[in-house]
Amino acid sequence: MNKVIVPGTFDPITNGHLDIIERAAKLYDQVIVAIAKSAGKNPLFSLEERAELAKDSCSYLKNVEVKTFEGLLVNFAKENDAHIVVKGLRIVSDFEYEFQMAGLNRKLYPEFETLFMMSSHEYMHLSSSQIRELAQMGGEYEELVPECVAKALKNL
Ligand code: PNS
Repeated sequence: MNKVIVPGTFDPITNGHLDIIERAAKLYDQVIVAIAKSAGKNPLFSLEERAELAKDSCSYLKNVEVKTFEGLLVNFAKENDAHIVVKGLRIVSDFEYEFQMAGLNRKLYPEFETLFMMSSHEYMHLSSSQIRELAQMGGEYEELVPECVAKALKNL
């Protein structure tokens, strides 16, 4: 069985994330959406809330499961008997950070592979931080996130 991890902070999950998860789920037998605690980023939603929103959003994808983790991604990968990570690449500025991270992870765990998937055109500029800003400043975001996320943002 081939298995991949789609990691991130998912604060909150957007339609851009879902696009990558859905496409990975077509290519691989099993997808683990790995939600990092990312305490240093001071997330808007708690780890549990982010996991619930991701579970709800991915519930129509039968080969996708959502898990949370704290600490290094390579350790999470080893614990889950996986060595492939799929990451979405949007604009060019993503590349430098992702390139460094992929190199470091491979140094820590030589079998570790990072595969990059280009974001679909309509999600090229979409990020969780933009969604949080739109929600906090009264902008429209409903078409950019799953329904459960839109609801959660309204209830903040
Ligand atoms: O959605 P994000 O915030 O861009 O996701 C980044 C994430 C969570 C995938 C990345 O920060 C990560 O893997 N964090 C876990 C800690 C880790 O393994 N860091 C790399 C070595 S320092």
